[in-house]
Amino acid sequence: MAEYQITTIDGGITQISVSGTVASNDIELFRALSHLSKKFSCTLVNLLELSDTSEDLFDYLDEISSRTRIKIIVKKPELVNKCTEKGLQTFPTIKSASLSYAGEETLRLLISRLRDVPILNTEAYRLIQHSASPDANFAELERMMQNNSGLCSQILRTANSPYFMRSSKAETLQQAMVTLGLAPLRQIFIYNFYNSVGNFFGSQQETVEHGQECAKLAEFIAKAGSASYHECAKVRLIGLLHDVGRQALAFFFPQQYERVRHLIKVEKKPSFLAELVVFGIEHQSIGSILANRWNFPDYLSKVIGDHHYLQAKDWNTLTLPVFCANNFLNKRDGEPFSLFFQKLEGYFFLKKAELPWKNIDDEFNDFLEKSEDF
Ligand SMILES: [Fe+2]
Ligand SMILES: [Fe+2]
Repeated sequence: MAEYQITTIDGGITQISVSGTVASNDIELFRALSHLSKKFSCTLVNLLELSDTSEDLFDYLDEISSRTRIKIIVKKPELVNKCTEKGLQTFPTIKSASLSYAGEETLRLLISRLRDVPILNTEAYRLIQHSASPDANFAELERMMQNNSGLCSQILRTANSPYFMRSSKAETLQQAMVTLGLAPLRQIFIYNFYNSVGNFFGSQQETVEHGQECAKLAEFIAKAGSASYHECAKVRLIGLLHDVGRQALAFFFPQQYERVRHLIKVEKKPSFLAELVVFGIEHQSIGSILANRWNFPDYLSKVIGDHHYLQAKDWNTLTLPVFCANNFLNKRDGEPFSLFFQKLEGYFFLKKAELPWKNIDDEFNDFLEKSEDF
């Protein structure tokens, strides 16, 4: 028969540690697991000291996982495999399991707090939703924004810009929308929505300015790589929004975020690692989840989610300019950063273009100094 011990670890999570050998008729252990699954929303099951077990243990864990989130701490490969077969989450250490729990809790809290905020009632948000729906149409969009003169003139201005080369001036909103098409319209709505989010998230001037500079510089890089107008527009939007998850974390959890800032400034931890330590989740994942929830186009949530790790190679033509711009700015601002020169070379290689700059730091600084306000 196995032995077990139930403890509460840091963060108030319940852990059951099982040692020895689990037999198929280990009623007492199974009863204890059942009790925990009814009482707690998450349970850590520590199998690090387990010598052997009957298959029944995994069947039983699988069964109770419908009532409670089970996180299994296990290292032995054969036990890890058994858990994976049942779709049970495994972690090599207590620390990693409890961080995963903290990350889920952060996300749950953030999403429930987000429900109470007025940003989702904004006109721009409704426009994004309509333009993403299968029955999107220009007449409805026109009706929705008829009282928003700022947005209407922005759309007219864009449609009449040299890029769209209309033979005659677009004079009505409908003509302008037809010229632009839905995808660029959606980008305009997202810019407007982000402005309201920015206002709502309050005075995080530093992150907002960082996003604006990143947008300009990432677009500058993409243009130098002869990216198309549409690609440049996407890169600019990603640059602006890439740290939206950081804004959300700092807004909803201001005290914990001070700890993150301390880890960044004093211990020189990159922002996403500092966030993992404090929240169990980083701003890229939060940003990507928010972008999905807000119904942003796919590329935005994908690239926001990948802007530090660069794992999704398919998105490289969009991610690399943002990665390079972001890390250049972090380096300039004395924050921890990743080396980006090779990635910059990689981007120009992908675009089959010549890297046009000799001294990157000087050229980028020069561009940012001369560039217009966002
Ligand atoms: Fe970031
Ligand atoms: Fe950033």
